Amino acid sequence: MTERTQTRQTQAGTGLGFGALFSKHVISARYVAGAWSGLEVRDFEDLRFSPAAMVMHYGQAIFEGLKAFRATDSDEVLIFRAADCARRFDRSAARMAMPPLPAGMFLDAVRTLVGVDVAEVPSVPGSSLYIRPVMFADEPSLAVRPSTEFSFLVLASPVDSFFASGRTMIDAYAQSSHIRAALGGTGDVKCSGNYAGAMAAKADAQRHDCDEVLWLDAREHHYVEEFGAMNCFVVRGSGERAELITPPLAGTILPGHTRATVITLAGRRGLTVLQEPIELGQVLDDGGPVSEVFACGTAAGVAPVHRILTDTGRERIIGDQPGPLTAQLAADYVAVTHGQLEPEPDWIIRIPG
Ligand SMILES: Cc1ncc(COP(=O)(O)O)c(C=O)c1O
Repeated sequence: MTERTQTRQTQAGTGLGFGALFSKHVISARYVAGAWSGLEVRDFEDLRFSPAAMVMHYGQAIFEGLKAFRATDSDEVLIFRAADCARRFDRSAARMAMPPLPAGMFLDAVRTLVGVDVAEVPSVPGSSLYIRPVMFADEPSLAVRPSTEFSFLVLASPVDSFFASGRTMIDAYAQSSHIRAALGGTGDVKCSGNYAGAMAAKADAQRHDCDEVLWLDAREHHYVEEFGAMNCFVVRGSGERAELITPPLAGTILPGHTRATVITLAGRRGLTVLQEPIELGQVLDDGGPVSEVFACGTAAGVAPVHRILTDTGRERIIGDQPGPLTAQLAADYVAVTHGQLEPEPDWIIRIPG
């Protein structure tokens, strides 16, 4: 077992960070000769691969990210939107010429891992067990074609703040010299290569003291698409006339489950939610109608944006405090993930804690 494996009951709020510690077990399966093996529960330990394993050369790999939260008012642990992750995993697999998992196998794996490592779901507010399913090509071959062998793994990491800075409001760096995705590419699935191609932009954002990249459309660099690992919402107007806007799912952004959750929660509050293109210029306009900006994703929840900087030297401070709608939706999101607000059918799997 590696020394990074964490074996103690974690006390969150003591700097768990994101993805640095791992729970004791891993669930695994292999795909060989056209069929998946059964799931196995294994210790979290290093894996062995051929130096020719195809993923290391051609990057045929996909992943998912979901969280298990301790319920506030019961002893249960709540796994949020696992069924949606299973569906997105299948979509990613199809796009990347990888085999689908048999029905139910993804959910069985997630349920089993949370069950065996349930003691490692942290309980301090703001913490959770982040669950990472991944599938990758491990046939030993340098041939440039889809692999015929794959591994499926699910691991987990007790986490608190997603952002290395620990900030609760984030600064974003809008990129026009790199793009994330173009129509027909892989931007709307969760393949590892999307993130590899984004690392230089992330490093650039960090050099400018920003937490995240704000990606723009590939053709004109005129419209806001999404953040590095989160979808984007803006609030236009304020008070009774406030509207929530998020870019449409037009093929280049990831259909986030937190985005979908926020749309539902906002609808429950009677807010108008529009899915339409958002011009960067409007977001940067200090006297303009955009009054709030927030990012949202499984890893970070609802993260209010403090400042946007662009690689062309423009800057706008959105606000030093989360805006009222952002704060309301962030609280609703925490409530629904912790069992304090009624979920929609299919949103939550309950595990005895
Ligand atoms: C590029 C990108 N956009 C958006 C999201 C948010 O998706 P979700 O809410 O399903 O976590 C993610 C999450 O990992 C992401 O990587």
